[in-house]
Amino acid sequence: MLKISKVETFYGKIQALRGVDIDVNDGEIVSLIGSNGAGKSTLLMTISGVNKAKNGEIIFNGEKIQNQEPHKIVNLGISQVPEGRRIFSRLTVEENLRLGAYINEKGKFFSDDIKEVYDLFPVLNDRKTQRGGTLSGGEQQMLAIGRALMSKPKVLLLDEPSLGIAPKLVNQIFASIKNINRKKNVTIFLVEQNAKKALELADRAYVLVNGKVTIEGPGQDLLKNKDIQAAYLEGGSKN
Ligand SMILES: Nc1ncnc2c1ncn2[C@@H]1O[C@H](COP(=O)(O)OP(=O)(O)O)[C@@H](O)[C@H]1O
Ligand SMILES: [Mg+2]
Repeated sequence: MLKISKVETFYGKIQALRGVDIDVNDGEIVSLIGSNGAGKSTLLMTISGVNKAKNGEIIFNGEKIQNQEPHKIVNLGISQVPEGRRIFSRLTVEENLRLGAYINEKGKFFSDDIKEVYDLFPVLNDRKTQRGGTLSGGEQQMLAIGRALMSKPKVLLLDEPSLGIAPKLVNQIFASIKNINRKKNVTIFLVEQNAKKALELADRAYVLVNGKVTIEGPGQDLLKNKDIQAAYLEGGSKN
């Protein structure tokens, strides 16, 4: 469904991605783990067209999408939940959700779509007139995911949904990601520093080090991998 081949992305002369190869198949949950600075966000921004790939190819359902305009990529069915959530803090919960639909002409069905988001995250229904900025971190993350769902994506790109969020809400958010995948048939590409959670959730996973994939395999296998345990699963306070 999404095929990333030999992708290289630069910031000026600094090379952030050094030939990344990743496949995401229809219906899967694929996780990409890696330390701070490995290039995870750069990869998501390159898929969604915000950053431009200098070399390599990104194919989505048979169509080359590298270097297309971001709004076109959203219309093809790829929606990103950015790192740090980036909701509109002065707009209400419901206004934030409506903005997610405006990108897509299918947004004409948006009252049904909003209801689906509220079914998924009932707390957002309780707070629909509350300003986004007054929600907790976890609730803002739910709002950011809900907003991304408003464009009816086939693939959801999630950038560190656990970052800075209380553990109890992290579990809830990961459970909803699984629900979105299994019940709404949305393919998931998740990037995380929280390796344990991301590998537990994943059908398949990749490890990114310095802009290159070093290990790939089923999530359960990577959880048992000694190198991954040493580097990402043991002792690290953030994991
Ligand atoms: N806007 C930018 N300008 C210059 N360098 C950047 C920019 N954004 C990220 N980088 C660099 O690219 C590399 C990858 O960063 P990033 O994709 O944010 O990593 P991650 O999301 O895995 O923490 C890092 O070395 C980072 O410093
Ligand atoms: Mg990042």
